[in-house]
Amino acid sequence: MAKLWTPLILVNLKTYQEGTGKRALDLAKKAEKACRETGVCIGLAPQYTDLAPIAESVSIPIFAQHIDPIKPGSNTGHVLAEAVKEAGAIGSIINHSEMRLRLADIDVSITRAKELDLIQVVCTNNARVSVSVAALEPDFVAIEPPELIGTGIPVSKAKPEVITQTVKLVKLVNPKTTILCGAGITKGDDVSAAKKLGTEGILVASGIVKAKNPYQVLLDFAQAANAV
Ligand code: G3P
Repeated sequence: MAKLWTPLILVNLKTYQEGTGKRALDLAKKAEKACRETGVCIGLAPQYTDLAPIAESVSIPIFAQHIDPIKPGSNTGHVLAEAVKEAGAIGSIINHSEMRLRLADIDVSITRAKELDLIQVVCTNNARVSVSVAALEPDFVAIEPPELIGTGIPVSKAKPEVITQTVKLVKLVNPKTTILCGAGITKGDDVSAAKKLGTEGILVASGIVKAKNPYQVLLDFAQAANAV
C-alpha cells in the first residue's frame, strides 16, 4: 500500500477535463516524479473511474473524492468504501463542499472508512464545523472556505483567522487529527503561509489541474512546504 506522510499536498482532480482519463494518469506520473524529487508526500484524488488505472501505475497515495455512508447491498448509484479500496484507494475525501453530507452521514462515512483502514480526509467550511467533525476523530480535517474555492485567492492570505481558529480548536478536541487547508492555492508562497499557520499540508485542485505546467507548480509547492 502507498505510504502517506506530512507535509501532504493532496490534489483533488474533481471532474476537470484536464484531470480525466489519460490526462489524470499523466498528472499522477508528474506528481509521483515531484514527490520523489522533493520528499514531500503528494497524493491524488481522481474520479472513481480513474482510481484503478492510476493506483496500478504509480506509487503515490491515491484517494477517492467521496464515499457514501452505506454498507454493501442495494444502493444504486452510490459509492461503496469497499469498492474504492479494491480499486486501490488508500483513503477518501469526505464531505467536500461540492459533495456535502449531514453530520450523521459524515460519522457513518468515517466509521465505514475506519473499518476498512481507509484514511479519512474530512472537509469543513469553517472553524465551528471543523470542531464538530474533529469530535468524530477523523485522520485529517481539511478546512476550505467554499467562497474561495477555485478563485485563486488563497485561504492562507484571505482568511488566515479561519485556519488559526481551526488549528486551535481541533487540537483541543482531538490532538491526533492532522489539519490541512485548501481553497485558492496557486503558489508556493500560499503553501508556506498555510504551514506557518499550523497546518501540515494542503488540499488543492485548480491550482494544479488547470496550471500550464502542473509539474513545475507541484515542485514549487513541495519546495515551499519543505522550506517551512
Ligand atoms: O478540494 C480542493 C478544492 O476544493 C480547492 O479548490 O481549485 O481552489 O484549489 P481550488
